[in-house]
Amino acid sequence: MFAVPLTDNAELRPLEPWQAPEFFAHIERARAHMDPWIGWAGRSTDLDSARATLQGYADRQAADAGRLFGIWLDGTLVGGTMFVSFSTATATAEIGVWTEPAGEGRGLVGAAVRHLIDYAFTVRGLHRLEWHTSPDNVRSQALARRVGMTLDGTLRESYLNNGVFHDAQIWSILAHEWQPAAA
Ligand SMILES: CC(C)(COP(=O)(O)OP(=O)(O)OC[C@H]1O[C@@H](n2cnc3c(N)ncnc32)[C@H](O)[C@@H]1OP(=O)(O)O)[C@@H](O)C(=O)NCCC(=O)NCCS
Repeated sequence: MFAVPLTDNAELRPLEPWQAPEFFAHIERARAHMDPWIGWAGRSTDLDSARATLQGYADRQAADAGRLFGIWLDGTLVGGTMFVSFSTATATAEIGVWTEPAGEGRGLVGAAVRHLIDYAFTVRGLHRLEWHTSPDNVRSQALARRVGMTLDGTLRESYLNNGVFHDAQIWSILAHEWQPAAA
């Protein structure tokens, strides 16, 4: 229900609190892959905290301030993408992504991101979408570039992960730069 096909065997769907057991099992598989780059997996250390992560996004969705989607490959949750923030007041949002190794290198996350970008610009009328990543995260930067984003600049030591302050690259795409056909 409410699934967007990404390929013949993969789809994008809402990811909600009732799916906490499936989400937690996936995060356990993804943890080592995600930990160097985002603290997000580190906040889902057991079933309760995983459910709290999903509930946090459900609350943001209810406030139209964010939303979480999962990517299923052959029926298994392997990753996802989200509006980390979403504001019609400022016409801006931030998109985030993750995948476990089984979902990487297949173009699935990129395809999912294009759906979010298209929704934000053509359905919701936003003006600017951001992507925050580490200068060392080459795969994340490649994905941002592939979907048409431009590197705005680098914020020095602006976020804490694993007890260390990291630089953050800010990438963005503006509504007039988006080519819906690419979705
Ligand atoms: C960042 C991340 C989501 C990128 O995932 P990804 O699978 O590389 O991204 P895409 O979905 O765009 O897939 C592109 C890859 O699929 C390959 N691919 C295969 N079939 C494809 C297709 N039909 N279309 C497009 N790409 C395809 C591409 O060649 C590319 O692989 P390559 O870079 O080895 O050549 C992933 O590396 C990840 O989760 N990392 C850990 C968490 C993280 O860093 N999150 C982001 C924090 S900012």
